[in-house]
Amino acid sequence: MHLTRLQFARLRCFDEVALEALEAGVVLFTGANGAGKTSVLEAVHLLGYGRSFRGRVRDGLIRSGAADLQVYAEWRGGNDGRLHRAGLQHAGRHWAARLDGEAVATLADLCAAFAVVTFEPGSHELIAGGAEHRRRFLDWALFHVEPTFLPVWRRFARALKQRNALLKSGPVPAALEPWDRELGEAGEQLTRLRLGFLDCLRPALVETADEFLPELGTADLGFHPGWRREELPLHDALVLSRERDLLLGHTTVGPQRADWQVRYAGLPGRESLSRGQEKLTALACVLAQAREFARARGEWPVICLDDLASELDRPHQEQVLRVLLSSGAQVLLTGTDPPPALRALDAPAQWFHVEQRRVFPRPPAQVGGAL
Ligand SMILES: Nc1ncnc2c1ncn2[C@@H]1O[C@H](COP(=O)(O)OP(=O)(O)O)[C@@H](O)[C@H]1O
Ligand SMILES: [Mg+2]
Repeated sequence: MHLTRLQFARLRCFDEVALEALEAGVVLFTGANGAGKTSVLEAVHLLGYGRSFRGRVRDGLIRSGAADLQVYAEWRGGNDGRLHRAGLQHAGRHWAARLDGEAVATLADLCAAFAVVTFEPGSHELIAGGAEHRRRFLDWALFHVEPTFLPVWRRFARALKQRNALLKSGPVPAALEPWDRELGEAGEQLTRLRLGFLDCLRPALVETADEFLPELGTADLGFHPGWRREELPLHDALVLSRERDLLLGHTTVGPQRADWQVRYAGLPGRESLSRGQEKLTALACVLAQAREFARARGEWPVICLDDLASELDRPHQEQVLRVLLSSGAQVLLTGTDPPPALRALDAPAQWFHVEQRRVFPRPPAQVGGAL
């Protein structure tokens, strides 16, 4: 996918920004700390996820004092490379969006059309943080490559919500039966989809981890479905946990508790990853996800790399950029200065500078010249 135009208004420190004729390769955004570089990437990420990687819209993405924000984008994508247009107005709780001239009914319709993956300073949470980060990662990928995912996920989410509401009202355990059956069926389907996706992701992850962390040995992916799946079907696990769930007031077994992890052959047992290795593992996962997306869909998602130079040492920066340059993916990159790795690779880049709440184009030749 190739983002060609990006406009946004009332997002973080910005009033109005319009970026036109964005190029297909590396697009660089430089600026001092606090200038708004990350916010530019948040505008892009918002279209693909309905939220920022730094939280929900209502948690500070709208400019202080404004009632809503707007993002408008045009991109080329799909098998025919057609031009698509999307606009989103978001007021925190309420939103309205249009895609290719039509109003969209759910944010998922918008997010399905535009694919972006982001590596940013918070990405190590994918490895070190709570399981919800890893479930979101899995489900994003399934959402984009597996057409049956969304109805299954919706059925599962609805059944879980109903069962939890019933648990809070304290019924006799047998009253849970219809929801246990529904949740059991939808949860098994969701789990099969997640397992199937991890099987598809594994080769890309093994290859990518081997590029970035060869010293840790071969990588593998482990999956925890959220209940003892090897012993009993989800329906039975739900029945067995009824008493406990009634006491606690929520459902304690099932795919809402699922998790996965990256393991390395050279790091057995309980030895933990260093912070740097966590970041590189998160990066390997994000790039593997993009690779798998490209394999399944025939085009790369837009890749956002926030503050790459502060996140990775120079050899690893060069490695990432080399992989992405040869992929043909569009890469939106931020930094206080142009990353030295860009010049080392002699890679052409379109350059914008962010200053005083505005985004200025800079001549591309200066990327090299400034170093
Ligand atoms: N809701 C908001 N309203 C106005 N300004 C904000 C809001 N949220 C963040 N900011 C400001 O936006 C600026 C840009 O932040 P950021 O994109 O993180 O900059 P950078 O990535 O360049 O360091 C910061 O100065 C921050 O204080
Ligand atoms: Mg930043």
